[in-house]
Amino acid sequence: MAGFPQVRLRRLRQNVALRRMISETKLDIRNIIYPLFVTYGEGVKQEIDAMPGIFRFSVDKLSGEVSEIAELGIGAILLFGLPPTKDEIGSSAFDPQGIVQQAVRGIKSTIPELVVITDVCLCEYTTSGHCGVVLNGEVDNDKTVEILAKVAISHAEAGADVVAPSDMMDGRVKAIRERLDDSGYQNVAIMSYSAKYASSFYGPFREAANCSPQLGDRRGYQMNPANIREALREVEQDIAEGADIVMVKPALAYLDVISRVRATFNHPLAAYNVSGEYSMVKAAARNGWLDEREVTLEILTAIKRAGADIIITYHAKEVAEWLSK
Ligand code: PBG
Repeated sequence: MAGFPQVRLRRLRQNVALRRMISETKLDIRNIIYPLFVTYGEGVKQEIDAMPGIFRFSVDKLSGEVSEIAELGIGAILLFGLPPTKDEIGSSAFDPQGIVQQAVRGIKSTIPELVVITDVCLCEYTTSGHCGVVLNGEVDNDKTVEILAKVAISHAEAGADVVAPSDMMDGRVKAIRERLDDSGYQNVAIMSYSAKYASSFYGPFREAANCSPQLGDRRGYQMNPANIREALREVEQDIAEGADIVMVKPALAYLDVISRVRATFNHPLAAYNVSGEYSMVKAAARNGWLDEREVTLEILTAIKRAGADIIITYHAKEVAEWLSK
């Protein structure tokens, strides 16, 4: 067995060309998904305080933004809606004239080839701010699942390519798959937020999407950050129910979970580089404490190296620019 001095691992690190040649992981903008916040109103393009560079757009302002995203070669967009009204059951989430439904129709009529994914959840649409319907002080699983299936159908009707349930109710993938198939949407795929943790890294998103729980927290349905075996059970369940793509969320503090899911299952795996992860980098960069470009590329490369095929990130547009240079 050869060792030093015959073996010198630095030989292949001598110059850029050699380092590139033996690089094991490569970021590709086509595997990256960009989240977009769509709001009610007209003429709105409003920056989110805690997420510099990320905006809420009204439907009429979307087309320019979406053309730019498509031109940059970004793989897909993931839509979140901010409705004008909320109620107890989140009925504006399945309104055919709802924000997301209008946005999908608009985008599909201008850029049909852009992959459109919709977030399927109730937290932006319920007065409680919970991801489901609150009955007797608790988020009722089965009632919520029925409503989520309706939401998914309304997104498919509008033209979504993929629906992405992020609520963490049990059995929602099964219900959504059945309802899609019964309604003639066999080709609409499901990207399931399978292992979604109850994370404080979602803070800036809740400001962006105006969806903080008014009472209590999400620990009764999202996962405990301490658990990894349970994540494998969640993924297993979603695959059995018909998920086409599974997801781990957040990404950066959960690279071990990404790695285990990748080693255990063969489904395409997405990782969500969430709002708090984005805001930390932005804040440090603004203070001159970190090199934004280098740190962002390092984080995303690490998420991919851990095993993610797809990365959902608010950095998508800047990454597209950096990778094209
Ligand atoms: C809605 C949802 C959340 C995120 C995506 N979908 C918030 C939450 O569950 O509280 C978080 C995304 C992010 O932080 O970037 N259920």
